[in-house]
Amino acid sequence: MSEVLRSPSEMKAWRKDKVGTVGFVPTMGALHAGHEELIKRARKENDLVVLSIFVNPTQFNDPQDLAKYPKTWEQDFAMAEMNGVDAVFFPNFEEMYPDKYRYKVSENDYSLLLDGAHRPGHFDGVLSVVMKLFNLVRPNKAYFGEKDFQQLSLIRGMVDAFFMNLEVIPVATVREHDGLAMSSRNTRLKTEERKIAPAIYKAITESKSAEEATAKLQAQGFVVDYVTDIGSRRFVAAKLGEVRLIDNVEI
Ligand code: PAF
Repeated sequence: MSEVLRSPSEMKAWRKDKVGTVGFVPTMGALHAGHEELIKRARKENDLVVLSIFVNPTQFNDPQDLAKYPKTWEQDFAMAEMNGVDAVFFPNFEEMYPDKYRYKVSENDYSLLLDGAHRPGHFDGVLSVVMKLFNLVRPNKAYFGEKDFQQLSLIRGMVDAFFMNLEVIPVATVREHDGLAMSSRNTRLKTEERKIAPAIYKAITESKSAEEATAKLQAQGFVVDYVTDIGSRRFVAAKLGEVRLIDNVEI
């Protein structure tokens, strides 16, 4: 039975007497097969597994996006249970931010590109909450999906910069049968949009350049925030109706 810990003090008390390794999967809930992959990997590689479910308001620059973020707590708890999660950390905003976000973790370079350029303050919010979560859960290993590749790189950078005592484990993006990267936001796509959405993956894998991929997506009705090649990776963010989707692939 997964234990539900509803506050930082309950989380700390649970962690205090635990021996063996702890694997940690931080999420904002609305769990899907991509999260399940992270949990399974954590289960395989650790004695204990902690999953957190916390829709973190400080990483949403758009209040509408925060309000519409899917919430499926009951299903999420069931998935945790089914996959052998030992503890689910499910705190509220007031207790996670007793300082009302006066203190934050910032990165001043890579976090300003790509998603950071289009979502001001997003990565400050992500890094700050992940730092809080790491301090409470004190994991040996923490698992992040490569779908959010920029997030994964920035969290790794934070762990290195602050000499944090844990390993960040990347897990490959899980895709639907038609190539669409699994995302909690996919459930918000209308039927017609869902049919077009796999064009994102197709465009970034099949185009010779970022410009070509952008043109293909625009022709299909996407509002493209960016398609950018950095190093050996191509990154994309594009809106379909009200839903903003991101993806990346190795090129
Ligand atoms: O990837 C997410 O779900 C979130 O950004 C994270 C890492 C749980 C922080 O809120």
